[in-house]
Amino acid sequence: MTALSEKLPARAEETGETASAEAPVLAVRDVRISDRVGGREIVHGVSFALTPGRTVGIVGESGSGKTLTCRAALGILPAHFEITGGSIEIDGHDIAGLSPARWTALRGTTISAVFQDPASYLNPSLRVGAQVAEVIRVKKGVKRREARRQAVELLRAMHLRDPELVYGQYTYELSGGMLQRVLLAVAIAAGPRILIADEATTALDVTVQAEILDLLADLREQTGLALVVVSHDLAVVAQLCDEVLVLCRDEVVEQGSARQVLHDPQHEYTRLLIAEHEQYGLEKFLAPKEDA
Ligand SMILES: Nc1ncnc2c1ncn2[C@@H]1O[C@H](COP(=O)(O)OP(=O)(O)O)[C@@H](O)[C@H]1O
Ligand SMILES: [Mg+2]
Repeated sequence: MTALSEKLPARAEETGETASAEAPVLAVRDVRISDRVGGREIVHGVSFALTPGRTVGIVGESGSGKTLTCRAALGILPAHFEITGGSIEIDGHDIAGLSPARWTALRGTTISAVFQDPASYLNPSLRVGAQVAEVIRVKKGVKRREARRQAVELLRAMHLRDPELVYGQYTYELSGGMLQRVLLAVAIAAGPRILIADEATTALDVTVQAEILDLLADLREQTGLALVVVSHDLAVVAQLCDEVLVLCRDEVVEQGSARQVLHDPQHEYTRLLIAEHEQYGLEKFLAPKEDA
């Protein structure tokens, strides 16, 4: 049972009182989400606070409300879903009072996201680089030529080999892993403080998945990005997170430091998730990079 947690690298939270003094960039307090048409509450109270450079993981079975929680924080709940309890603060501002114009200004520059299936968030008839450049041009207010230069640099920073070539390509010419790197470039182009990665590596094979997770960790280190990592896969969440929330049947059944949740799971469902990993031998994926 302890194999997963023993391989986790030590984190700041265990070595002292570092992060707690800083104000959270994202504070989710007892958030409840309901389906107005169905008349039922779907998410029954989720809470976490995220400071710069930290990562919170949300793990749990399909349909447990992970994506709805993310969409609530991004102000993009599907039609007829609404927040019916609690509050969400982005950078100290309660999102309840935000106008659509304010949301447009916040998205990309303060809070951003990448989801599964990157191709569906990119326009198939435009060169991918031009789509990155357009975000830079609009959100940062720079000239076309400068936006293009910055887009190429950003693609390079996403560890795309030959970024000049990739810039001119179309979605159908790129693999799933390359597309997710392009989408990541789009998501961070305007320098957000919070990035939500909702099943962002789910469709990728294990090697590419690990590379993308490394990239997220590097971004966090270099820019102080605060990350929300959502996955049904405990290995993904365990690799990056300081704090973990475990959802089961719309309920947070367990929450605590990654080490605590993985080393000493209290809930049967968490134990089941851990056991599954040991069964499939995925625990090696959790080893710190130095051991690889
Ligand atoms: N656009 C939608 N329309 C109707 N029901 C939805 C929609 N999105 C989510 N739901 C329902 O809300 C619940 C939680 O969904 P979701 O947050 O997507 O779960 P998860 O991301 O954990 O798999 C599920 O029961 C799902 O069927
Ligand atoms: Mg989901």
